[in-house]
Amino acid sequence: MKYCMAANWKMNKTVPETVEFIKAFLPMVKDITDVEIVISPPFTSLYAASESLKGSDVKLSAQDVFWEEKGAFTGEVSPGMLLDAGCRYVIIGHSERRQYFHDDDTVVNKKIKAAHKAGLGVIFCCGESLEERESGRTFDVIGREIQTGLEGVSAEDLIIAYEPIWAIGTGKTATKEQAQEVHAFIRKTLKTAYGSAADAIRILYGGSVTPENVDGLMACQDVNGALVGGASLKPESFYKIVSFKKES
Ligand code: 13P
Repeated sequence: MKYCMAANWKMNKTVPETVEFIKAFLPMVKDITDVEIVISPPFTSLYAASESLKGSDVKLSAQDVFWEEKGAFTGEVSPGMLLDAGCRYVIIGHSERRQYFHDDDTVVNKKIKAAHKAGLGVIFCCGESLEERESGRTFDVIGREIQTGLEGVSAEDLIIAYEPIWAIGTGKTATKEQAQEVHAFIRKTLKTAYGSAADAIRILYGGSVTPENVDGLMACQDVNGALVGGASLKPESFYKIVSFKKES
């Protein structure tokens, strides 16, 4: 299975900054063929990014989507519009969306189905808060997020990102053991839902991934890539992450 290394820029970078990043980044990664590389700029930079990425294998993702195709939904963007702007993927259910914008499991499920229907690949995020971990509810929370979020969703063109909320932007990464434990649980849950098709679903780890800790995390059996925030904002740093050392 091909590793997937995805940058989530969150609410960072103007159009010129996006284009400048891509200009510097593409020559660095031109010989990397065994890793799928994805960048997710804000909506306003998507089209410019897709133009700048032309001719390269780096894929474009949005950070969110609405489930309707068109109409009176001020401020929202449809799956078709993302495809039109050049996106291959969309991130759905990020903990920041769940926390600040009321994206609950039901909303997440609707968004995923709409994205798939339009032909977008989905990067579905799940993860527990510190309080949930400390009270021993990690597996309950993630099990529920997967069960409701992925209810009726196809295993095809689906990527899971496990992002422990306590590790996002905190510099506090999950240990290899913590990551592997949850990734194995996610794999088992997916197997129950999808049978053997679950083996092909990539499970990314996200939360304070850096060039320094990426090798260790990627060596875990059920970790198939990373979703990277802060360390993806500089071309050099994201390049170091996508060129992590694979175990021989
Ligand atoms: P950081 O890498 O900045 O911790 O962010 C992780 C994340 O939320 C990616 O979606």
